[in-house]
Amino acid sequence: MIPVRRGSAVGANAVSGIGRANGTTGYSMVDCHPRREDILHEVVTGLTKMPKHLPPKLLYDPKGSALFDTITRQPEYYLTRSELSILSSIGDNMQSLVSPDTVIVELGSGSGEKTIHLLNMLPEETAYVAVDISASALDSALSSLAVQFPRKRLIGMVADYLTPLVLPGNFENMPKLFVFFGSTLGNFEPLDAVHFLNDMALSLKPHDALLVGIDLKKTPELIHRAYNDAAGVTAEFNYNVLTRINRDCSANFTLEYFRHEAEYQPDAGRVAMFLVSKKEHTVTIADYDVYFSAGEPITTEYSYKYSIEEFYSLAYQAGWSIDQSWTDANELFSMHYLRPDLV
Ligand code: AVI
Repeated sequence: MIPVRRGSAVGANAVSGIGRANGTTGYSMVDCHPRREDILHEVVTGLTKMPKHLPPKLLYDPKGSALFDTITRQPEYYLTRSELSILSSIGDNMQSLVSPDTVIVELGSGSGEKTIHLLNMLPEETAYVAVDISASALDSALSSLAVQFPRKRLIGMVADYLTPLVLPGNFENMPKLFVFFGSTLGNFEPLDAVHFLNDMALSLKPHDALLVGIDLKKTPELIHRAYNDAAGVTAEFNYNVLTRINRDCSANFTLEYFRHEAEYQPDAGRVAMFLVSKKEHTVTIADYDVYFSAGEPITTEYSYKYSIEEFYSLAYQAGWSIDQSWTDANELFSMHYLRPDLV
């Protein structure tokens, strides 16, 4: 599937398809949020499989996005701090790599904290398109970016970037820099990551590029702590997916019947996050009954960690060549500037 196709109007997956120019705050929004029926279908499909799972994108309703933002400020969650420290040290490199007519397209832009650092180091003329599943996160990020960058063209696109997208904004012939921060690629199964990156590479032109942040393999305890913070924010983030399904899919999950678990699985090189049923019970989701045995887990997220060599191999398989790579001083996190390997 081609994740991003060039075009000019709203997305191929446009559902509500509302383009709204926000004249007062200086940005515009395109709404291609998945339909309720599609969310229900994914939930029921995932919960009737063995083992049960839910797509991680469901973690990001307005409350989930706000909780994720809080996670990024927890002392144990080294990822965001490490990535920001890389970003703050690569300004000169980025300026020489990115031309003023470039369109920056950020996938999963979230709170936009890293975006500010990125846009500050790039030519003022570059336009910026933020793609995120959460309309509230986009609104809050873009309204503060509009204050800081009043002359920049800013567009928000509420969409699932795993579905084919048509970029808004008539940017057809302009170079694009796709940005995929936060090690979000780690939330894909490795083979899906290869397919996703390969589809993207095939849809791009030689002047396009990708800047991607990847969490590195390290001491398992450090990784484990990042997903089991003492304040319990990650647990709350995890439970919130059930509240969200109750609301959006007419379900009756009882949160107290589940416990949060997140463990680093060194052999698989990933953190697996679960909601584990504490007792045998049945949950109703719209017209469906879903049975849980005592101790049965729902996988809500995987977060893969890579060595630099593993990431290079994944990128090459997906049709990209590595132009530059950086790590933070503690070598916890990495960032890579890639170009599509078009033959
Ligand atoms: C968005 N993603 C890269 C985060 C991660 O680390 O996998 C989501 C997250 N899940 C629990 N804590 C943070």
